Amino acid sequence: TTHKLLLLPGDGIGIETMAEVERIIAFFNASGGANTFETESDLVGGAAYDAHGLAVTDECVAKAKASDAVIFGAVGGPKWADVPYAHRPEAGLLRLRKDLDLFANLRPAICYPALADASSLKRELVEGLDIMIVRELTGGVYFGEPKEIVTMEDGQKRAVDTQLYTTYEIERIAKVAFDLARKRGNKVHSAEKHNVMKSGVLWKEVVTETHASYASDVELHHILADNCAMQLVRQPKQFDVIVTDNLFGDVLSDEAAMATGSLGMLPSASLGAADEKTGRRMALYEPVHGSAPDIAGKNRANPIATIASFGMALRYSCGMSEQADLIDKAIAGVLADGLRTGDIMQPGMTEVGTSEMGSAILKKLETL
Ligand code: NAI
Ligand code: MG
Repeated sequence: TTHKLLLLPGDGIGIETMAEVERIIAFFNASGGANTFETESDLVGGAAYDAHGLAVTDECVAKAKASDAVIFGAVGGPKWADVPYAHRPEAGLLRLRKDLDLFANLRPAICYPALADASSLKRELVEGLDIMIVRELTGGVYFGEPKEIVTMEDGQKRAVDTQLYTTYEIERIAKVAFDLARKRGNKVHSAEKHNVMKSGVLWKEVVTETHASYASDVELHHILADNCAMQLVRQPKQFDVIVTDNLFGDVLSDEAAMATGSLGMLPSASLGAADEKTGRRMALYEPVHGSAPDIAGKNRANPIATIASFGMALRYSCGMSEQADLIDKAIAGVLADGLRTGDIMQPGMTEVGTSEMGSAILKKLETL
């Protein structure tokens, strides 16, 4: 099978970390397996604005739609601080998310044993941690109407945000979570607040109904979102997949991230609807971090988040779980060998740059 990948390095360290992904792609293509990659690259963010006056072009969006997966670096930087709001680098990412209808945001929280001491939590709580948070990304209170600040008769102001979910929106995110659980630990926690929110009542009801066709092999637990936040700190390893709405997911995924250490380690995926006939989903994979202007162009960025994002693309868009496992093993291996980029540096370890970290991961892959 040939997989079509669109590479969008973007700005700042996105360019450096994507270069390391390209070396891994070249390695897989040269290794003569049944799977190969056909890659194309394009500009996005500030780089696209400089070239075209737009943070993303129509042609780029069309290429993204036609690809099996988009691998995205990061966008933004001080150079574009004064460009018109509609053309700011982040607008490129927002347009891609919207046009590809990427409604499911997957944020894994993985704690590599070698980094367990860098976690905000105790080693025994996080060592070997592997949680997947599935956040609904295109609905809920961030988008619901009315959304306004109005001045009342007495001169006070009133701010309104509207939490709004439909059966359709809840069902499709629940399916993503249950399908994922089948490829992992077969357990889903659905987090909402049905005790105080109508949207929580509907969420719980629809997730329960959707679960019926997965009940033979996937466990479902309902959990109140505030309790979920508490349990993530108390005993994070009790979770496998957590599915939740846009707002709770924003908070819970950042909370879970701190169990794992550095921003430079965190990958993510955003998935769209499955095609009725082929089952194919549009998908964009990206590190959680931004373009890090403070270290850009200095060979100091940690490439692991972007490499791990490519690993997620292999697992969820290319049907290459075996190779995705190899990438995870290679990352765990170089960390166990004591190699560290500056952001995850610890006493007694060996500090390396972006390209040296990439080389070490490649070398591990060759031996696995
Ligand atoms: P940032 O994530 O770029 O950097 C925050 C801090 O973490 C910096 O000190 C940076 O050096 C460090 N850091 C981040 N990733 C790292 C890595 N891979 N290796 C080592 N250190 C790393 O967030 P910040 O500074 O708030 O934003 C910088 C620019 O990036 C802004 O223009 C912002 O809008 C943009 N941004 C873009 C995102 C995206 O493309 N998805 C997400 C977040 C921010
Ligand atoms: Mg956030």
